Amino acid sequence: MSDIFKFLCATKIVFGKNASGQVGEELTALGYKKTMIVTDKGIINAGLLKHIEESLTASGIEYIVYDEVPPNPPSAVVVKGVEIFRSNGCDSFVAVGGGSAMDACKTISMMTVNDGDINEYDIGGKTFTKKGPSVITIPTTSGTGSEVTQWAVITDEKKHWKSSIGSPLMAPAVALVDPMMTLGLPPAITAATGIDALTHAIEAYTTRDALNGANPMADILNLEAVRLIGHNLREAYARGGNYEARKNVMLGSTLAGVGFPQVGLGNAHALAHPLGGHYDIPHGVANAILLPFVMRFNLIACPGRFADIAVAMGENIEGLSPMEAAEKAVAAVERLVKDTNIPSLRTFNIKDSDWSRLAEDASKDMNSQTNPRRTSYQDLLDLFHQANNAE
Ligand SMILES: NC(=O)c1ccc[n+]([C@@H]2O[C@H](COP(=O)([O-])OP(=O)(O)OC[C@H]3O[C@@H](n4cnc5c(N)ncnc54)[C@H](O)[C@@H]3O)[C@@H](O)[C@H]2O)c1
Ligand SMILES: [Fe+2]
Repeated sequence: MSDIFKFLCATKIVFGKNASGQVGEELTALGYKKTMIVTDKGIINAGLLKHIEESLTASGIEYIVYDEVPPNPPSAVVVKGVEIFRSNGCDSFVAVGGGSAMDACKTISMMTVNDGDINEYDIGGKTFTKKGPSVITIPTTSGTGSEVTQWAVITDEKKHWKSSIGSPLMAPAVALVDPMMTLGLPPAITAATGIDALTHAIEAYTTRDALNGANPMADILNLEAVRLIGHNLREAYARGGNYEARKNVMLGSTLAGVGFPQVGLGNAHALAHPLGGHYDIPHGVANAILLPFVMRFNLIACPGRFADIAVAMGENIEGLSPMEAAEKAVAAVERLVKDTNIPSLRTFNIKDSDWSRLAEDASKDMNSQTNPRRTSYQDLLDLFHQANNAE
C-alpha cells in the first residue's frame, strides 16, 4: 500500500494579538488599492471594524463596506455583493466576521469572474475555472475555520439546501487570525462556534480517510485542536475577556480549519446542514446538539481513535478497555455541551412531518459519505430522533 499523502493549505496565516491591524500592509504588499469589506451588522455594532478601517486608511487604501450578510447566508447576498463590488470599482476583498461573512466574501470573489448561479457550484456540480480577486480573512468567531479553507457554505434559498462549494481557487490569500477579535463574542455564540470547531476536529480525526491512515499531518492538527478547545472553551465561555483562553480556542479552530479539509467530516455536519437550510438553526448549535449522538453511533467503528480523543479532552483512561475509553470521549463532549448551555433540539419545534425530508437531505450531504461507520437513511433518521427526544 502506498504511504503517499497530500496536504493542502494555500493561505498565509498571521496569528496573534492585533494581527488584524496588519490588513493595510497585507493589501499593499499584494498591490491592491480599493477593497470591499464584507461583514455583517453584528460585527459593526460590536465595534470590530474601526481599527481595520484605520489600518486601511493609514496604508492609503480606499474601501467600501458591504454589511448585509445574515447567518446561513443565502445566494441572493452573493449576487448583490458582486454587483456592489463591480459598481464601485473595487479590486480586492476583506472578510470580517464569522463563517457567514467569510463564506459570502469568498464566493462573491469567485462570482466576479465565473459564470452562472453560485448554487450550481455545489459539490458534484460545476467547477470554478477562474480565480477571483484576493480575499483577506479576519475571523471574529473561533469556529468554522473558513479563514483558511477552500470551502464555503451558501444556502440555496429555493431548495432550503446548504450548498458546499469548494475549489483550490477559493482559498483566501491571507488569514489575519487575531484572538482580540473574539474577546467580546457573546457566550452563546462562543459556545456554539467553539463546539463547531471541536466537531471539525473530532469528525476529521475519525473520518473514513483518517482511519485509513491517509493523512498523519492532519491527525496531528486535529487532535491538538481537540486538546486546545477541550481545555479552554469553558473559560472562554464563562470569562470571555480571558485572552489566553480565547487565544487557545482560536488556535484550535484554525488548526482544525487546516486539518479537516484534508480528510473530510462526518454525520454531525451531514445532519447539521439540513437543520440550517430548513430551520435556520445556527450551524454551531446544530453540530453541538448532534455531536454526542453521532460519536456514540460511531464508537464501534474506531474505539482507539475515540480513546485518543478522550485523552485529548483530559480524561483518564488508565485501566479501561478500548470501548470504555472511547465512551469517555462521548461523556466529555456531553459535559462540555451541558456546561455551555447549548439549547436542546426540541426547543426548535421541528415539525414531525419534516424529519424524513431532513434525513433525506442529510443522506445526500457529502459529509455522510466520509463518516467512519457506514450510515443508512434510517440511521440518520434515528440520530435525529435520538437528539430530539433528549432533554
Ligand atoms: N467554510 C467552511 O469551511 C465552513 C465550515 C463550517 C461552517 N461553515 C458555515 O459558516 C456559517 C457559520 O459561521 P459562524 O458559526 O462563524 O457564525 P456567523 O458568521 O453566522 O455569526 C453568528 C453571529 O455572531 C455574530 N458575531 C460574530 N462574531 C462576533 C463578535 N466577535 N462579536 C459579536 N458578535 C459576533 C454575527 O454578527 C452573527 O450574528 C454557517 O453558514 C456554516 O455552514 C463554513
Ligand atoms: Fe462546521
